[in-house]
Amino acid sequence: MAGLEQSGNTLVFFVNGKKITDDNPEPEETLLSYIRNKLKLTGSKLGCGEGGCGACTVMISRYDRQSKQIQHFSVNACLAPVCSVHGMAVTTVEGIGSTKTRLHPVQERISRSHGSQCGFCTPGIVMSMYTLLRNTPLPSTNQMQHAFEGNLCRCTGYRPILDGFKTFTKEFKCQMGENCCRNKPAEDMQIQENGLDKDTTFTSYDPTQEPIFPSELQLTDKYDKMMMSFRGERTSWFRPVTIAQLLDVKANNPNAKLVCGNTEIGVETKFKGLHYPVLISATHVPELTCIEYSHTGVTIGASTTLNAIHDSFQEKRKQLKEYETRVMVAINEMLQWFAGQQIRNVAAIGGNIMTGSPISDLNPIFMAAGSTLTLQSLEGSRKVAFDENFYTAYRKNIVRPDEILVSIFIPYTSEKEYFYAYKQANRKEDDIAIVNAGMKVRLDDEQKVQKMSLAFGGMAPTTVLALGCCNKAIGRTWDDKLLEDVCHWLENDLPLSDSAPGGQIQYRRTLTTSFFFKFFLQVKSYKVKLHGKDLTAIKDYEWEERKSVQIFEKVPEGQQEIDPVGRPVPHVSAAKQATGEAIYCDDMPHYSDELYIALVLSTVAHGKILSVDTKMALEIPGIVGYVDHTDVPGSNDTGPAALIDEEIYRSEMVTCQGQIIGAIVADTQAHAQRAAKLVKIQYETYDPIITIKEAIAKDSYFPTDSVIVNGDVESALKEVENTLEGEIHLGSQEHFYLETNAVIAVPKGEDGEMEIFASTQNPTTTQMLAARALGVPASHVVCRVKRMGGGFGGKETRSIPALSLPAVVAAQKFGRPVRCMLDRDEDMLTTGTRHPLYAKYKIGFTAQGRIEALDVDLYLNAGCSTDLSAAVMERAMFHSDSCYKIPNVRVKGHLCKTNIPSNTAFRGFGGPQGLMVCENWISDVASKLGISQTKVREMNMYKEGDKTHYNQTIERCNIESCWKQVLEQSNYHKRLEQIDEYNRESRWRKRGIAAVPTKFGIAFTATFLNQAGALVHVYTDGSVLLTHGGCEMGQGLHTKMIQVASKTLGVSAERIHISETSTNTVPNTSATAASASSDLNGMAVLQACQTIKDRLQPFVKAKPEGTWNDWVNAAYFDRVSLSASGFYKTPNLGYDWETNSGNPFNYFSFGAAVSEVEIDCLTGDHKVLKTDIVMDLGSSLNPVIDIGQIEGAFAQGYGLFTLEQHKYSPNGTLLTRGPGAYKIPGFGDVPIEFNVTLLKDSPNPKAVYSSKAIGEPPLILASTVFYAIKHAITSARADTGVTGVFRLDSPASSERIRMACSDEFTKQFPEPKEGSFTPWFVQH
Ligand SMILES: Cc1cc2nc3c(=O)[nH]c(=O)nc-3n(C[C@H](O)[C@H](O)[C@H](O)COP(=O)(O)OP(=O)(O)OC[C@H]3O[C@@H](n4cnc5c(N)ncnc54)[C@H](O)[C@@H]3O)c2cc1C
Ligand code: FES
Ligand code: FES
Repeated sequence: MAGLEQSGNTLVFFVNGKKITDDNPEPEETLLSYIRNKLKLTGSKLGCGEGGCGACTVMISRYDRQSKQIQHFSVNACLAPVCSVHGMAVTTVEGIGSTKTRLHPVQERISRSHGSQCGFCTPGIVMSMYTLLRNTPLPSTNQMQHAFEGNLCRCTGYRPILDGFKTFTKEFKCQMGENCCRNKPAEDMQIQENGLDKDTTFTSYDPTQEPIFPSELQLTDKYDKMMMSFRGERTSWFRPVTIAQLLDVKANNPNAKLVCGNTEIGVETKFKGLHYPVLISATHVPELTCIEYSHTGVTIGASTTLNAIHDSFQEKRKQLKEYETRVMVAINEMLQWFAGQQIRNVAAIGGNIMTGSPISDLNPIFMAAGSTLTLQSLEGSRKVAFDENFYTAYRKNIVRPDEILVSIFIPYTSEKEYFYAYKQANRKEDDIAIVNAGMKVRLDDEQKVQKMSLAFGGMAPTTVLALGCCNKAIGRTWDDKLLEDVCHWLENDLPLSDSAPGGQIQYRRTLTTSFFFKFFLQVKSYKVKLHGKDLTAIKDYEWEERKSVQIFEKVPEGQQEIDPVGRPVPHVSAAKQATGEAIYCDDMPHYSDELYIALVLSTVAHGKILSVDTKMALEIPGIVGYVDHTDVPGSNDTGPAALIDEEIYRSEMVTCQGQIIGAIVADTQAHAQRAAKLVKIQYETYDPIITIKEAIAKDSYFPTDSVIVNGDVESALKEVENTLEGEIHLGSQEHFYLETNAVIAVPKGEDGEMEIFASTQNPTTTQMLAARALGVPASHVVCRVKRMGGGFGGKETRSIPALSLPAVVAAQKFGRPVRCMLDRDEDMLTTGTRHPLYAKYKIGFTAQGRIEALDVDLYLNAGCSTDLSAAVMERAMFHSDSCYKIPNVRVKGHLCKTNIPSNTAFRGFGGPQGLMVCENWISDVASKLGISQTKVREMNMYKEGDKTHYNQTIERCNIESCWKQVLEQSNYHKRLEQIDEYNRESRWRKRGIAAVPTKFGIAFTATFLNQAGALVHVYTDGSVLLTHGGCEMGQGLHTKMIQVASKTLGVSAERIHISETSTNTVPNTSATAASASSDLNGMAVLQACQTIKDRLQPFVKAKPEGTWNDWVNAAYFDRVSLSASGFYKTPNLGYDWETNSGNPFNYFSFGAAVSEVEIDCLTGDHKVLKTDIVMDLGSSLNPVIDIGQIEGAFAQGYGLFTLEQHKYSPNGTLLTRGPGAYKIPGFGDVPIEFNVTLLKDSPNPKAVYSSKAIGEPPLILASTVFYAIKHAITSARADTGVTGVFRLDSPASSERIRMACSDEFTKQFPEPKEGSFTPWFVQH
């Protein structure tokens, strides 16, 4: 092979300034795995492994010899092969700052602005911001926000992160104008604008202080100019530097894969099980990386990255005529919505073309533009048209195995040629398209079509040209008749079977014509001035700067300086989280004899295991063995909640996909995972039940007799003036904690002892079930939790059977520590979600809107085992009244038993489902009566002393106070009028507004769980070690507990440390859940500290002028115990289902919100223009942490009600297994204006220091967005003459919004009859 003999094979790169040389790099290893496992830099996190979350973001710097400049760019280390960074410098979060030396300003600002809760996303976000600053020391807010398109956070709701980083931007100034808090006396309330109080100062950012680029990489070109080759265990990597070398290697390895950004190949090899023995990196070949402009168009080398193209076009457009650049403009606009920065920094144009994804965002543009491709092999080069003949089938094209793609030529547009591109996705930012299109037309002087090209993605297995339509249009005038005809021709050109992959058939078809309608008007607008209503169809997406205000009570005057309760204290770990020093389970150092397990999961939803063949798997190098149900020393039967109805390893039957049948144990994760995929299992399969509807039809329920009856529903429904029946389906929700489940099980070698480090919200149940599995007393097992990267209920029970127990059994079998952190797809497949719900209701109400009767049946899809479903149902039933007094109620709960993974706790725990059903029928009643929803809500709202349908008296009822304040603060009534006016003028953009109140019951509904313990040790140096039963998962629990301890002991918070939560310090703890952890543990901490304080009292008295240390020392020498435990149980709790009496809840948290949205009726897109929230949190222990919980819950609720959709195939295969397919809200989804106020003067006597619980109550307030969308859709429907009640299921996805708008475009594609086809996914 030419040149190969001189190739280098030592990998050289720099990490945080340190030179790394490796003679045996593994081409299959990612940069993330290398820096975490080999270099032990665990600051960068693995959140998904598919480039979708940004937790792994690092900065790469390289010296560009052509421009003689150092380039910095962010990348996803989880996708970048370590071999790809040869000759480059990598900066990780550890490289920029540390709590031990100095925080980098980026780290300081995110932590001090409360932008880090669980912290798992934080290092990645820090590195995205850091990279931006390295390139642009004074960025604009727009640039800043774009920097985070590839980062996700599940905790914060993003607002504080954006606000913290806004301080780096040019525009940093108050957005509130005259209303600025600086212009008003603050009185007893503290007002923070954009997250910062007016006195906040930060360390300034000085770009000259940044680490310098390694001079060696700048001085020598040997790392760039030398052909490289690396050979690994089963893969070789070549990096040619000339096209001759490239073609030569390719000719010798025709099946070799070229690789550029590895953003496709990385996903194929990690998740689709593909293996490419030879990879050729095409990033250093000059012919493939250049961009050349001629007088007819632009030629772009195949390895050119998307961001390089974007920047080049941006510059070049300034020199060309406007009309010549229309394709470039379309490409650059499309690139805004193409993945995130980290992907666009490395992904190449050739990778996009050659992958040939039917939803590629660029291919429809290239095709419609009439592009040409240059292909080359050793035999020579050829040019081929990039047209309907290029792709031959799904991801197949006409390029021969020995050929490579060298470049693409894109012609400029001429003066009479018009070009636009469209993309519709579920989420606006960083999402793959549902349908996209490139559209070009050339008109003559009479506005007649000379040539038209309409190319579509998402409508067939390949990108397609609507050829029939384009031919028929030739010679036709660009007028309304043509528009009408094109819509019909497109229907024929783009047929889609009702069972086509991807589903959403009618929506996809409607989008094709809706896009053309936009194109038609956009082209028309060049000649004719469009008027009002038409203009709204083509209104551009406007980027708007976000603003926010947070208002909360100041601590009372005279509160001691040392007393932190009520103060806005930052999360105690925030700084460590921002520097990457905070340790999560998988960051813990490896034991020298540690093993790794990979789970073998069921691939059928319902079946009998006939045989398991591990032969091939056990032949993989590094494999230590296989574990299954026969290896469980104690009991294989398990159950993390009330019932023992699960198995650790399935022994005979599988009842859902993703159930654990066995586990491969190996020396490394890569070996274990590779082998697990080779275990062959044969099944006898049975028909699964997947949906609630199927369960109802087949009478498949878990035994439950949950009914609440209050009053006489039958009679009331008969007597009342109006009745209404309706239904709603609420979708499931993936927890999507950024840290997937992780465990390290360490057998201690004596007496069957086992130590478990786990990311669990439930150490006690982990301990108890591990003991049961091992057949040892619980006293021999300890479970320890330092912190979690988010939990949200997902780690309350499912982390135990899904990971901890299999690991514990494996560790015991082999007598060695066993580690596992689930990959995102495994986590999503195995651990269950929020319960989907279907409700059927009948409402009786007066002509004025007063509700007299509610009869509702709630059906939850519980999945294949009971887990916590009965308790989730109870909470849903308790919350079926939302905030309304209903004299006659009957609520029935049904738990559907299906063949999907067991559904489980999720923030709100059934509450949001119950509340949402209620708010839905309230909106139906308003529609039916033609009055406003607000009026119906106000008329029926609970008052002080009212009793709920379960007969609990509502005390200190603040619903109305929150409601009135939020309506007033948001200027609701005025805005409602303005919206009506706007909607009258706007046909294709509609606005809507909605207000929703909330009341959320606080306590575990299982009474015995309402207990907590704490343990306080005071050491003779005066330092305090605090332990309590709650786990820290980002919610700030440890921070609050330290505040409580500090106030009680009267010692500064800095002297109090919480190390971890463990079952050997505080036993028999309840899960950290139900929003009750601060209440319960806070009281236990208070008690323990009070005991210590009481014991110190004599020494204080003896020396009042002394210090804390003096008293502690005196007590020690006087042999007084400085260790105390505390215990608390909530009094007066307990509900009797038989008599419908008692108090299920300790008290209620109240709140209210108003949101305004705008929808695009043609696509279904929406944006939240403004949200105002008022929340009653008693006397907040820590207002900024509580506001963080409100905003985070709102964002999660927003995802639940508008965005997140889990999709199962009819046979029970989960189709959404990562951030690529399952979209949680991103940075772009924060309301443009977002204001949060904590209600003042409402201390709560029922919880620690008058505070209130916060984690779950605000989530439902995001339903304001859902009802505002419904309001906007109502207006769109009215424009086409459709009025009255209509059903909108949750989430209000872009598909549901578009199709509910019901216009001439949607009517063209009616829904097929149910049962007449097999859908691609089902509503489970
Ligand atoms: C998180 C994420 C988000 C994404 N978002 C989008 C999106 O919004 N829109 C979209 O369209 N795509 C998206 N993609 C897909 C992907 O990023 C693009 O297709 C990208 O352009 C691929 O480029 P790459 O350089 O990374 O390809 P690689 O993975 O390096 O290669 C992809 C394929 O192209 C082949 N190839 C590359 N260069 C050549 C060549 N010169 N000759 C022959 N074959 C070649 C490779 O052999 C391989 O088969 C996304 C991917 C990820 C991971
Ligand atoms: S871990 Fe790399 S993007 Fe999620
Ligand atoms: S703080 Fe962002 S994911 Fe938890």
